[in-house]
Amino acid sequence: MNYLLGLPLLLTLLLSSSCVLCLPLPFTSFDDGYVQLFGEDNLKVHGDGRTVHLTLDERTGSGFASQDLYLHGFFSASIKLPSDYTAGVVVAFYMSNGDVYEKNHDEIDFEFLGNIRGKDWRIQTNVYGNGSTNVGREERYGLWFDPSDDFHRYSILWTDSQIIFYVDGVPVREVRKTETMGGQFPSKPMSLYVTIWDGSDWATNGGKYRVNYKYAPYVAEFTNLVLHGCAVNPVDPLGGCDNTPASKSIPTGISLGERAKMESLRKKHMTYSYCYDRTRYKVPPPECVIDHEEAKHLHMFDPVMFGNARHRHPKHRRRSGSASSM
Ligand SMILES: *[C@@H]1O[C@H](CO)[C@@H](O)[C@H](O)[C@H]1NC(C)=O
Repeated sequence: MNYLLGLPLLLTLLLSSSCVLCLPLPFTSFDDGYVQLFGEDNLKVHGDGRTVHLTLDERTGSGFASQDLYLHGFFSASIKLPSDYTAGVVVAFYMSNGDVYEKNHDEIDFEFLGNIRGKDWRIQTNVYGNGSTNVGREERYGLWFDPSDDFHRYSILWTDSQIIFYVDGVPVREVRKTETMGGQFPSKPMSLYVTIWDGSDWATNGGKYRVNYKYAPYVAEFTNLVLHGCAVNPVDPLGGCDNTPASKSIPTGISLGERAKMESLRKKHMTYSYCYDRTRYKVPPPECVIDHEEAKHLHMFDPVMFGNARHRHPKHRRRSGSASSM
């Protein structure tokens, strides 16, 4: 066959595979997959374990984590954020192994940075590898919908060669493992964490707007949680894992069609990227691929205005069986 004839067919196949998350995802109920970390009765499970409400009030935030550590996988939740004035309120959906590897932990973050009524919501993504907390790799995006109006799906795909962040099934960021990135690409098993906490000191416009408990309780809702990865033996986390269960509804990478969507979305909605922050990095970290269109768009935003969002998640240590308070 003439390979030129095959090209349109190949393109059609690649583009049609862009419908990730069209098939039903394999949900895991709270009791089957998770354990409460902190917050006492500020964590409530509803609807056969499919839905979890996390509350922040003047007493405490709340949070939970996956029971297992996973080496790679697809992790996802439909999330509805607290509405109205939520400045300083941080809702985080992230992977970490900070309580297993204190000095050289890995992390993959989705973080909502609170909101001032009437303003666009911002979401932040970040990656740490092997304790590289002195190199923030933050990106921020203005959301094109109100995430407190309804549920939207946020997903992390983590493989041995790439990390992809998705919003409603559309990739917003891809981090490829490059040789120069070395150990700063997350490579050790991690748990999934879901938390709500008071991030007054940094979250909203770099700490300018603090949590106002007049508007508490702040309730974030999580439903149809997906934990689809290769679970490791907790006694020997570096000893590898059994195979990830197969599922056609789990994406494996970015198709051509999705890449086009991602690029256009980033050009429209990205408000900050560490790759373009010359006050922080005179030379961008080695994995950065500078895109002049992206740079032009980001130029309209003042990095100082959005603050330096470098931070660590508060320690939420696991205590077997019972939840600890903050
Ligand atoms: C991760 O950090 C540890 C301790 O600092 C170091 O010994 C190890 O070589 C690093 N791993 C990689 C893959 O760079």
